[in-house]
Amino acid sequence: MPTALEELAVQASTCVACRLSEHRTQVVFGMGDPAADLMLVGEGPGAEEDRQGLPFVGRSGQLLDRLLLEEMGRTRDSVFIANTVKCRPPGNRDPKPDEVETCWGWLEQQLDLIAPAVVITLGNFASKRLLGTDVGITKLRGSAYPYRGGSLVATFHPAAALRGGGAVLAQMRSDFVRAKLLLDGHGAGR
Ligand code: URA
Repeated sequence: MPTALEELAVQASTCVACRLSEHRTQVVFGMGDPAADLMLVGEGPGAEEDRQGLPFVGRSGQLLDRLLLEEMGRTRDSVFIANTVKCRPPGNRDPKPDEVETCWGWLEQQLDLIAPAVVITLGNFASKRLLGTDVGITKLRGSAYPYRGGSLVATFHPAAALRGGGAVLAQMRSDFVRAKLLLDGHGAGR
């Protein structure tokens, strides 16, 4: 019997609800443990993700894997990784507000089914959409927020660390440690 999350992935794979479906190779639904206590949400698939059908498999993904391992002792198969939009925006442009809204139903159902204790949002698009705010990531990061009965930690997108270097990376490291403390049960309310 397929799980509810597997059924959702099958439904999403043929989604044509927005214009992003016209350009994609395939829907990048997400990957990882369907019962994960930790979920990471990025922006949208890039070229490599569109090709492989998996999230964060390019350079940003390599950095994400390193941060997960070095700051949290976790591998990607022990978490669930998804994106705000499931189809690659052409030319890697930013997702448009109506595309984010149209795709929200898939992400919302993923959040409901996985029900992680902690969500890490990576970058502006995921952080703003999940927190329902227009405040930018530079202001949002550095705190944890109550979210769906658990906590949300907003941090930069790994691509920002690849561009921006050491200072951004150091802040991301401290955000990942914040998420680990929450998962370990030591960081409630931080
Ligand atoms: N950037 C994202 O936001 N998501 C991916 O899956 C890859 C790069």
